[in-house]
Amino acid sequence: MLRVFRIQRFNPEREPNQWVDEYTLEVNEDDKILDILLKIRDEVDTTLGFRASCAHGVCGSDGMMIDGLNRLACQTFVGDIPGRKPINIAPLKGVPVEKDLIVDMDPLLDKVKSVNPWVVAKEHKAGERELLMSQEDFEKIEDMTKCIWCSCCTTSCPSLWSDSDYLGPQALVMAARFILDTRNEDAEKIIEKVGGLDGVFRCHTIGNCTDACPRDIDVTGAIAAVKKVLLQGIDNEDKFSNIVWEKGDEKEQQG
Ligand code: SF4
Ligand code: FES
Repeated sequence: MLRVFRIQRFNPEREPNQWVDEYTLEVNEDDKILDILLKIRDEVDTTLGFRASCAHGVCGSDGMMIDGLNRLACQTFVGDIPGRKPINIAPLKGVPVEKDLIVDMDPLLDKVKSVNPWVVAKEHKAGERELLMSQEDFEKIEDMTKCIWCSCCTTSCPSLWSDSDYLGPQALVMAARFILDTRNEDAEKIIEKVGGLDGVFRCHTIGNCTDACPRDIDVTGAIAAVKKVLLQGIDNEDKFSNIVWEKGDEKEQQG
């Protein structure tokens, strides 16, 4: 079948404003949007710019707005956008566009780094065996460990569109993951960061982030859990984990 792809373009060396190019291609329902972009770039227009690497939903580099929603091009199929209407493809919103579908990820990644997304184990010496955690403790953070740093959540967040200083969902998911990690002795530092002016209370629980996440992470739940830690203190760890896993528990009960 023939489908029209309307792709937002930008090349500051050519002209200062964005424009839209239309490509009509013979495609199948099970073609990935990434395959379409590769076909256009290889066979129709070699100037088209986009990022991609693994093609299997692992590297997080091909987040973009497809038919109005943030998605990974390698995990979205032509058949996901039914009908005959043109398929609109645009770069992620709320971050500077460098070229076509390529955005500047640095501001977003800097925010993630600012919450110290790593384990600090002061007594653990290099060369000792790995630092273990119990299965039960791991299950509390398992959902958040699936994050591939694609920024689909953060760039779908209206709070971030209106306030570029807000940390945003991606950084807050990492904050939740490393606050709850029982091996981390520096969780207080993360709590201090997310409790700041541009931190977690800028979230208005709009929920776009959870809808946008290609890994089905309960982003809104993780943010709510961080809020609860700030309001009740880290010692209330059990209550914290209960919130994070509310969604999973519900699923289990339904099953
Ligand atoms: Fe991407 Fe989901 Fe991680 Fe956000 S939480 S960066 S949408 S994988
Ligand atoms: Fe790696 Fe899509 S190309 S996630």
